[in-house]
Amino acid sequence: MEKIDVLFSEEMITKRVKELANEFYLKYHDEEVVFVCTLKGAVFFACDLLKNYRGDARLEFLRVSSYEGESSTGKINLKLPLKAENIHGKHVIIIEDIVDTGYTLEYITKYVNDMKPKSMITCTLLDKKARRVVDINPDYSGFVVDDLFVIGYGLDYDQKYRNLPYVGVVVKE
Ligand code: XMP
Ligand code: MG
Repeated sequence: MEKIDVLFSEEMITKRVKELANEFYLKYHDEEVVFVCTLKGAVFFACDLLKNYRGDARLEFLRVSSYEGESSTGKINLKLPLKAENIHGKHVIIIEDIVDTGYTLEYITKYVNDMKPKSMITCTLLDKKARRVVDINPDYSGFVVDDLFVIGYGLDYDQKYRNLPYVGVVVKE
């Protein structure tokens, strides 16, 4: 394996996930929430959020793809759809791994909104703010990250490194 610099350690992520899960609980308390996890990148983040969430929660999955190699194309393909009956009339939290240009989040929020949820908010593990093209911002984010290609804790480089328990960057030699 290549050398990797750690940006957000396992401890930092665990602490931040607990904070976010508590914020969501304060927001919804006795109302049921549907966590919509975007595959594959957000899967560890969504599971950790759910494990730390004390209220009634459901978990749904959505898969879109936009990214080839290291550059965002803006073209989004829906690979695994949601069922409208799982979203309609429900409080939805969209869980993303990283918001970069914003094309993916824009697509997903429109897609979910069309299913008429009772409410909808977005939460991303990482916000690559400096790269935004679309005028959209996540409601919650774990960390703001510089314009670097990051890997780990669900995030991949050509499907590798998802299993790292931290977020880091590959050191190019
Ligand atoms: P957009 O540009 O649509 O991109 O906001 C969002 C999607 O692009 C992927 N992405 C990354 N994946 N490391 C990754 O492993 C990165 O640094 C990175 N930047 C963007 C990601 O799939 C995200 O959902
Ligand atoms: Mg990805």
